Amino acid sequence: MKRILLTVSLGQLGSELAAALRRRYGTDNVVITDIRDDVNRELVESGPFHLLDCRNSTELAELVRKHRTDTIYHLAALLSATAETDPQHAWDINMNGLVSVLEVARETECAVFTPSSIGAFGPNTPKDYTPQDTIQRPTSMYGVTKVAGELLCDYYFKRYGVDTRGVRYPGIISNVTPPGGGTTDYAVDIYYAAVRTHSYICFLDGGTYLDMIYMPDAIKAAIDVMEANPDRLRHRNAFNVSAMSFCPEDLAAYIRRYIPDFEISYEIDPVRQAIANSWPNSLEDYAARVEWGWEPDYDLDAMTREMLRVLTERADRGALV
Ligand code: SER
Repeated sequence: MKRILLTVSLGQLGSELAAALRRRYGTDNVVITDIRDDVNRELVESGPFHLLDCRNSTELAELVRKHRTDTIYHLAALLSATAETDPQHAWDINMNGLVSVLEVARETECAVFTPSSIGAFGPNTPKDYTPQDTIQRPTSMYGVTKVAGELLCDYYFKRYGVDTRGVRYPGIISNVTPPGGGTTDYAVDIYYAAVRTHSYICFLDGGTYLDMIYMPDAIKAAIDVMEANPDRLRHRNAFNVSAMSFCPEDLAAYIRRYIPDFEISYEIDPVRQAIANSWPNSLEDYAARVEWGWEPDYDLDAMTREMLRVLTERADRGALV
Protein backbone atom coordinates (compact mmCIF):
# COMPACT_ATOMS: atom_id res chain seq x y z
CA MET A 1 0.00 0.00 0.00
CA LYS A 2 1.35 3.44 -0.96
CA ARG A 3 1.84 6.19 1.63
CA ILE A 4 1.32 9.50 -0.14
CA LEU A 5 1.83 13.21 0.56
CA LEU A 6 0.35 15.93 -1.65
CA THR A 7 1.52 19.54 -1.94
CA VAL A 8 -1.25 22.10 -2.53
CA SER A 9 -4.13 19.72 -2.10
CA LEU A 10 -6.92 22.28 -2.04
CA GLY A 11 -6.61 23.58 -5.61
CA GLN A 12 -8.57 22.48 -8.68
CA LEU A 13 -6.68 19.21 -9.23
CA GLY A 14 -5.51 18.60 -5.65
CA SER A 15 -8.91 18.68 -4.01
CA GLU A 16 -10.31 15.94 -6.26
CA LEU A 17 -7.08 13.95 -6.55
CA ALA A 18 -6.64 13.90 -2.75
CA ALA A 19 -10.14 12.51 -2.29
CA ALA A 20 -9.57 9.87 -5.00
CA LEU A 21 -6.22 8.82 -3.51
CA ARG A 22 -7.83 8.49 -0.07
CA ARG A 23 -10.55 6.26 -1.50
CA ARG A 24 -7.93 4.09 -3.21
CA TYR A 25 -5.15 3.85 -0.60
CA GLY A 26 -6.97 4.66 2.66
CA THR A 27 -7.47 8.03 4.34
CA ASP A 28 -4.61 7.69 6.83
CA ASN A 29 -2.18 6.79 4.04
CA VAL A 30 -2.75 10.10 2.21
CA VAL A 31 -1.39 13.22 3.92
CA ILE A 32 -2.61 16.44 2.40
CA THR A 33 -0.82 19.77 2.72
CA ASP A 34 -1.49 23.29 1.53
CA ILE A 35 -0.39 26.84 2.31
CA ARG A 36 -3.95 27.58 3.54
CA ASP A 37 -6.65 25.76 5.46
CA ASP A 38 -9.59 28.18 5.12
CA VAL A 39 -11.15 26.53 2.04
CA ASN A 40 -12.68 23.07 1.55
CA ARG A 41 -12.92 22.43 5.32
CA GLU A 42 -14.57 19.08 4.62
CA LEU A 43 -11.38 17.80 2.94
CA VAL A 44 -9.08 19.46 5.51
CA GLU A 45 -10.92 17.75 8.37
CA SER A 46 -11.36 14.38 6.66
CA GLY A 47 -7.87 13.04 7.49
CA PRO A 48 -4.22 13.99 8.04
CA PHE A 49 -3.65 17.63 7.00
CA HIS A 50 -0.68 19.98 7.54
CA LEU A 51 -0.08 23.60 6.62
CA LEU A 52 3.07 23.61 4.47
CA ASP A 53 4.94 25.82 2.05
CA CYS A 54 6.67 23.13 0.00
CA ARG A 55 9.67 25.41 -0.62
CA ASN A 56 10.55 24.73 3.03
CA SER A 57 12.44 21.46 2.55
CA THR A 58 13.15 21.04 6.28
CA GLU A 59 9.45 20.97 7.17
CA LEU A 60 8.63 18.86 4.15
CA ALA A 61 11.29 16.28 5.10
CA GLU A 62 9.95 16.16 8.68
CA LEU A 63 6.44 15.42 7.43
CA VAL A 64 7.68 12.78 4.99
CA ARG A 65 9.62 11.00 7.77
CA LYS A 66 6.81 11.33 10.32
CA HIS A 67 4.22 9.80 7.98
CA ARG A 68 6.65 7.33 6.36
CA THR A 69 5.64 8.75 2.97
CA ASP A 70 6.87 6.86 -0.12
CA THR A 71 5.24 8.95 -2.87
CA ILE A 72 4.88 12.74 -3.22
CA TYR A 73 2.27 14.23 -5.56
CA HIS A 74 3.71 17.69 -6.11
CA LEU A 75 0.92 19.94 -7.41
CA ALA A 76 2.03 23.40 -6.25
CA ALA A 77 2.38 25.73 -9.25
CA LEU A 78 1.13 29.05 -10.58
CA LEU A 79 -0.83 28.66 -13.83
CA SER A 80 -0.04 30.40 -17.10
CA ALA A 81 -1.95 33.71 -16.93
CA THR A 82 -1.13 34.31 -13.24
CA ALA A 83 2.52 33.52 -13.92
CA GLU A 84 2.67 36.28 -16.57
CA THR A 85 1.54 38.89 -14.00
CA ASP A 86 4.66 38.22 -11.87
CA PRO A 87 7.15 35.99 -13.71
CA GLN A 88 9.83 36.13 -10.99
CA HIS A 89 7.34 34.96 -8.35
CA ALA A 90 6.17 32.20 -10.71
CA TRP A 91 9.75 31.01 -11.13
CA ASP A 92 10.18 31.00 -7.33
CA ILE A 93 7.01 28.97 -6.65
CA ASN A 94 7.22 26.62 -9.62
CA MET A 95 10.96 25.90 -9.54
CA ASN A 96 12.01 26.29 -5.91
CA GLY A 97 9.00 24.22 -4.83
CA LEU A 98 10.05 21.46 -7.20
CA VAL A 99 13.74 21.58 -6.20
CA SER A 100 12.72 21.26 -2.54
CA VAL A 101 10.46 18.27 -3.28
CA LEU A 102 13.11 16.51 -5.39
CA GLU A 103 15.80 17.01 -2.75
CA VAL A 104 13.54 15.58 -0.03
CA ALA A 105 12.62 12.70 -2.33
CA ARG A 106 16.32 11.98 -2.94
CA GLU A 107 17.09 11.92 0.80
CA THR A 108 14.04 9.89 1.79
CA GLU A 109 13.72 7.65 -1.32
CA CYS A 110 10.25 8.83 -2.31
CA ALA A 111 8.73 8.59 -5.78
CA VAL A 112 7.51 11.92 -7.21
CA PHE A 113 4.58 12.80 -9.50
CA THR A 114 4.86 16.27 -11.08
CA PRO A 115 2.30 17.54 -13.57
CA SER A 116 3.65 19.16 -16.70
CA SER A 117 1.39 20.81 -19.26
CA ILE A 118 0.59 21.62 -22.87
CA GLY A 119 2.27 24.88 -21.78
CA ALA A 120 5.62 23.09 -22.06
CA PHE A 121 5.31 23.54 -25.86
CA GLY A 122 5.82 26.72 -27.85
CA PRO A 123 5.10 28.46 -31.15
CA ASN A 124 7.58 26.38 -33.19
CA THR A 125 6.28 23.03 -31.86
CA PRO A 126 4.23 21.08 -34.47
CA LYS A 127 0.68 22.24 -33.73
CA ASP A 128 -1.44 19.24 -34.68
CA TYR A 129 -1.00 15.81 -33.09
CA THR A 130 2.03 17.20 -31.30
CA PRO A 131 4.39 14.24 -30.81
CA GLN A 132 5.71 13.04 -27.44
CA ASP A 133 9.30 13.97 -28.32
CA THR A 134 9.48 17.24 -30.23
CA ILE A 135 10.61 20.88 -30.09
CA GLN A 136 9.89 22.53 -26.73
CA ARG A 137 10.62 26.25 -26.80
CA PRO A 138 7.75 27.80 -24.75
CA THR A 139 7.41 31.59 -24.61
CA SER A 140 5.46 31.91 -21.32
CA MET A 141 7.10 31.83 -17.87
CA TYR A 142 4.71 29.00 -16.96
CA GLY A 143 6.01 27.01 -19.92
CA VAL A 144 9.64 27.81 -19.10
CA THR A 145 9.12 26.39 -15.58
CA LYS A 146 7.31 23.33 -16.95
CA VAL A 147 10.12 22.44 -19.40
CA ALA A 148 12.76 23.10 -16.75
CA GLY A 149 10.74 20.94 -14.34
CA GLU A 150 10.51 18.06 -16.84
CA LEU A 151 14.28 18.18 -17.37
CA LEU A 152 15.03 18.41 -13.66
CA CYS A 153 12.77 15.44 -12.86
CA ASP A 154 14.46 13.35 -15.57
CA TYR A 155 17.84 14.45 -14.20
CA TYR A 156 16.96 13.29 -10.66
CA PHE A 157 15.90 9.93 -12.07
CA LYS A 158 19.07 9.41 -14.11
CA ARG A 159 21.54 10.88 -11.61
CA TYR A 160 20.02 9.75 -8.29
CA GLY A 161 17.48 7.06 -9.18
CA VAL A 162 14.53 9.08 -7.85
CA ASP A 163 11.37 7.53 -9.34
CA THR A 164 10.04 10.68 -11.01
CA ARG A 165 7.04 10.52 -13.35
CA GLY A 166 4.63 13.03 -14.84
CA VAL A 167 2.03 13.81 -17.48
CA ARG A 168 1.56 16.87 -19.69
CA TYR A 169 -1.96 17.89 -18.79
CA PRO A 170 -4.20 19.69 -21.25
CA GLY A 171 -6.76 22.12 -19.77
CA ILE A 172 -8.57 20.32 -16.95
CA ILE A 173 -12.36 20.73 -16.81
CA SER A 174 -14.09 20.11 -13.49
CA ASN A 175 -16.98 21.13 -11.26
CA VAL A 176 -15.72 20.92 -7.67
CA THR A 177 -12.94 23.52 -7.19
CA PRO A 178 -12.58 26.26 -9.81
CA PRO A 179 -9.21 26.66 -11.58
CA GLY A 180 -7.30 29.87 -10.99
CA GLY A 181 -5.39 31.89 -13.52
CA GLY A 182 -5.12 29.46 -16.42
CA THR A 183 -5.49 30.09 -20.15
CA THR A 184 -7.81 27.09 -20.49
CA ASP A 185 -10.14 28.26 -17.66
CA TYR A 186 -12.75 29.47 -20.18
CA ALA A 187 -13.71 25.84 -20.78
CA VAL A 188 -14.74 25.54 -17.11
CA ASP A 189 -16.31 29.01 -16.74
CA ILE A 190 -18.49 28.49 -19.82
CA TYR A 191 -20.44 25.61 -18.21
CA TYR A 192 -21.16 27.60 -15.04
CA ALA A 193 -22.29 30.58 -17.15
CA ALA A 194 -24.41 28.34 -19.40
CA VAL A 195 -26.33 27.01 -16.39
CA ARG A 196 -26.61 30.40 -14.65
CA THR A 197 -27.44 32.78 -17.51
CA HIS A 198 -27.48 30.80 -20.79
CA SER A 199 -24.73 33.10 -22.06
CA TYR A 200 -20.96 33.49 -21.82
CA ILE A 201 -18.38 36.15 -22.74
CA CYS A 202 -15.26 34.26 -23.79
CA PHE A 203 -11.72 35.66 -23.37
CA LEU A 204 -10.29 33.51 -26.20
CA ASP A 205 -11.14 33.81 -29.88
CA GLY A 206 -13.85 31.37 -31.04
CA GLY A 207 -11.50 29.42 -33.31
CA THR A 208 -8.75 28.75 -30.73
CA TYR A 209 -8.17 25.00 -30.56
CA LEU A 210 -6.65 23.53 -27.38
CA ASP A 211 -6.49 20.10 -25.81
CA MET A 212 -8.72 19.41 -22.82
CA ILE A 213 -9.42 16.61 -20.36
CA TYR A 214 -12.26 15.94 -17.88
CA MET A 215 -11.25 15.67 -14.22
CA PRO A 216 -11.98 11.93 -13.74
CA ASP A 217 -9.55 11.19 -16.60
CA ALA A 218 -6.95 13.62 -15.19
CA ILE A 219 -7.11 11.74 -11.88
CA LYS A 220 -6.92 8.38 -13.59
CA ALA A 221 -3.76 9.49 -15.43
CA ALA A 222 -2.08 10.66 -12.20
CA ILE A 223 -2.78 7.36 -10.45
CA ASP A 224 -2.07 5.04 -13.39
CA VAL A 225 1.28 6.57 -14.34
CA MET A 226 2.50 6.15 -10.74
CA GLU A 227 1.29 2.53 -10.64
CA ALA A 228 2.83 1.65 -14.02
CA ASN A 229 5.46 -1.05 -14.24
CA PRO A 230 8.78 0.88 -14.40
CA ASP A 231 10.24 -1.71 -16.79
CA ARG A 232 7.78 -0.54 -19.46
CA LEU A 233 8.58 3.18 -19.15
CA ARG A 234 10.77 4.58 -21.92
CA HIS A 235 9.66 8.10 -21.00
CA ARG A 236 9.10 9.63 -17.58
CA ASN A 237 8.79 13.43 -17.57
CA ALA A 238 6.40 13.92 -18.96
CA PHE A 239 3.84 11.92 -20.98
CA ASN A 240 1.45 13.64 -23.41
CA VAL A 241 -2.12 12.77 -22.39
CA SER A 242 -5.11 13.92 -24.37
CA ALA A 243 -8.83 13.31 -24.33
CA MET A 244 -10.34 15.90 -26.70
CA SER A 245 -9.43 18.99 -28.71
CA PHE A 246 -11.95 21.78 -29.35
CA CYS A 247 -12.33 25.55 -29.73
CA PRO A 248 -14.85 27.84 -27.98
CA GLU A 249 -17.21 27.71 -30.99
CA ASP A 250 -17.25 23.89 -30.90
CA LEU A 251 -17.89 23.89 -27.15
CA ALA A 252 -20.74 26.38 -27.51
CA ALA A 253 -22.31 24.15 -30.18
CA TYR A 254 -22.17 21.12 -27.88
CA ILE A 255 -23.71 23.11 -25.01
CA ARG A 256 -26.53 24.21 -27.38
CA ARG A 257 -27.49 20.54 -27.81
CA TYR A 258 -28.73 20.71 -24.21
CA ILE A 259 -29.35 24.47 -23.70
CA PRO A 260 -30.63 25.54 -27.17
CA ASP A 261 -30.74 29.29 -26.42
CA PHE A 262 -27.12 29.40 -25.15
CA GLU A 263 -25.19 32.36 -26.58
CA ILE A 264 -21.46 33.01 -26.72
CA SER A 265 -19.79 36.36 -27.36
CA TYR A 266 -16.15 37.41 -27.27
CA GLU A 267 -13.96 39.94 -25.42
CA ILE A 268 -10.44 38.77 -26.18
CA ASP A 269 -7.80 38.97 -23.45
CA PRO A 270 -4.58 39.61 -25.42
CA VAL A 271 -2.31 37.98 -22.81
CA ARG A 272 -4.21 34.70 -22.66
CA GLN A 273 -4.86 34.71 -26.42
CA ALA A 274 -1.10 35.02 -27.07
CA ILE A 275 -0.41 32.15 -24.68
CA ALA A 276 -3.10 29.97 -26.29
CA ASN A 277 -1.77 30.77 -29.79
CA SER A 278 1.66 29.50 -28.72
CA TRP A 279 0.30 26.11 -27.56
CA PRO A 280 -0.58 23.01 -29.64
CA ASN A 281 -4.05 22.46 -31.11
CA SER A 282 -3.99 18.78 -30.17
CA LEU A 283 -1.56 16.29 -28.63
CA GLU A 284 -0.63 12.78 -29.79
CA ASP A 285 -0.49 10.51 -26.72
CA TYR A 286 0.72 7.20 -28.17
CA ALA A 287 3.62 6.82 -25.68
CA ALA A 288 1.26 6.99 -22.68
CA ARG A 289 -1.07 4.48 -24.34
CA VAL A 290 1.71 2.00 -25.08
CA GLU A 291 3.88 2.41 -21.98
CA TRP A 292 1.19 2.44 -19.27
CA GLY A 293 -2.18 1.85 -20.92
CA TRP A 294 -3.54 5.41 -20.96
CA GLU A 295 -7.06 5.69 -22.36
CA PRO A 296 -9.55 8.48 -21.54
CA ASP A 297 -13.18 7.66 -20.67
CA TYR A 298 -14.73 11.03 -21.56
CA ASP A 299 -15.13 12.77 -24.92
CA LEU A 300 -16.60 16.26 -25.40
CA ASP A 301 -20.22 15.11 -25.52
CA ALA A 302 -19.99 12.82 -22.47
CA MET A 303 -18.21 15.54 -20.49
CA THR A 304 -20.72 18.22 -21.53
CA ARG A 305 -23.68 16.06 -20.48
CA GLU A 306 -22.12 15.38 -17.09
CA MET A 307 -20.96 18.96 -16.42
CA LEU A 308 -24.42 20.34 -17.24
CA ARG A 309 -26.17 17.64 -15.19
CA VAL A 310 -24.03 18.24 -12.09
CA LEU A 311 -24.18 22.05 -12.29
CA THR A 312 -27.92 22.11 -13.03
CA GLU A 313 -28.63 19.90 -10.02
CA ARG A 314 -26.50 22.21 -7.89
CA ALA A 315 -28.30 25.30 -9.23
CA ASP A 316 -31.68 23.67 -8.50
CA ARG A 317 -30.58 23.21 -4.88
CA GLY A 318 -29.50 26.86 -4.76
CA ALA A 319 -25.89 25.74 -4.25
CA LEU A 320 -24.24 27.02 -7.45
CA VAL A 321 -21.92 29.70 -6.10
N1 SER B 1 -4.50 24.81 -17.58
C1 SER B 1 -3.18 25.38 -17.64
C2 SER B 1 -3.23 26.82 -17.93
O1 SER B 1 -4.10 27.22 -18.66
C3 SER B 1 -2.38 24.70 -18.70
O2 SER B 1 -1.79 23.57 -18.20
O3 SER B 1 -2.40 27.54 -17.48
